[in-house]
Amino acid sequence: MASIVPQIKLSENGPKVSRIIYGTWHMTGMNENDEHLLSNPENILSRIKACVGVGITTFDLSDLYGYYQFERLFGEALKLEPDLKKKIQIITKTDIVKPCEAVPKCRIKYYNTSREYILQQVNRSLGMLGVDHIDLLLLHRQDMLMDADEVAEAFKQLHSEGKVLHFGGSNFTIQHFKLLQSRLPFKLVSNQFEFSPYEMSALTDDRLDYFQRKRIAPMAYSPLGSGKLFAKEPTEQTRRMRSTMEQIAADIGSEVSIDQVCYAWIMMHPANICPVIGTTSLNRIITAAKSVNLTLDRQQWTEIWSASTGAQVP
Ligand SMILES: NC(=O)c1ccc[n+]([C@@H]2O[C@H](COP(=O)([O-])OP(=O)(O)OC[C@H]3O[C@@H](n4cnc5c(N)ncnc54)[C@H](OP(=O)(O)O)[C@@H]3O)[C@@H](O)[C@H]2O)c1
Repeated sequence: MASIVPQIKLSENGPKVSRIIYGTWHMTGMNENDEHLLSNPENILSRIKACVGVGITTFDLSDLYGYYQFERLFGEALKLEPDLKKKIQIITKTDIVKPCEAVPKCRIKYYNTSREYILQQVNRSLGMLGVDHIDLLLLHRQDMLMDADEVAEAFKQLHSEGKVLHFGGSNFTIQHFKLLQSRLPFKLVSNQFEFSPYEMSALTDDRLDYFQRKRIAPMAYSPLGSGKLFAKEPTEQTRRMRSTMEQIAADIGSEVSIDQVCYAWIMMHPANICPVIGTTSLNRIITAAKSVNLTLDRQQWTEIWSASTGAQVP
């Protein structure tokens, strides 16, 4: 399979990433339905290779995934084929502290953006992954107690040490993004948030307008509503969306599937949104890659918006 997915720059001074990013959460065993894939570097390696084979070279992780163990498994997978390290970009996140075996003193899930914690977690991630740098570090959730000066100190240190090349937010409002940016001598390069026909608030709460204006490509997680589009017991909304997408898929071409239509819907937005896909299926990784070649027209895009909202545009 030839490489299909193009590379884009997340922002003017940002890293090059693949237009479709591979999300690793469903491989981490934190979702109760996904445990079959936990603890197996070979399974992880086969997904990395399937992705790289179609041009999906950017991987989205978090220190938290797999109850703080998944980065180590991902690193073990890379050790099986060390040449892969040069071909991929690693995004990881930090700031969520969640009670589990790896964090014995933690009583309640909370966020930690202290300088000390960020430095500790990045050093840990580097060791677990077995890499000398992280391409992009995101603060995973918006910390209500974030001291932007303190985060900036940590980011500047990690940057000057060459441990992290770029920084961004995840689930950040525009105001929070601007606050952190105001303390940094370099630009934040992206924000990752949920966006799909199921979660369209970024269209109207100014996030997509802001990032388009700044020429910063956001990353859209849960592009299929975290699998809701394929639910065995679909809601009325999902039924409407499926039947609309099936019609559009049939109109576009004989081998087009509704997950591809959904990815194309996201990528049609002029903010250059990069879907972070969550499938663990080798075939669906290839299907997803092919969606970069699909184009919807404005009426098709709006039909999907209408199927989701159950209404016409005003
Ligand atoms: N920053 C954050 O706070 C945050 C939050 C959530 C997620 N994320 C990132 O975003 C990534 C993607 O999120 P997500 O996993 O929710 O994305 P998603 O792509 O919306 O959902 C993935 C789920 O959909 C299922 N699926 C996909 N295609 C299917 C098909 N054709 N038929 C049946 N089932 C299908 C997958 O099952 P199969 O594996 O069987 O295909 C998987 O369970 C995560 O892995 C993570 O890296 C970030």
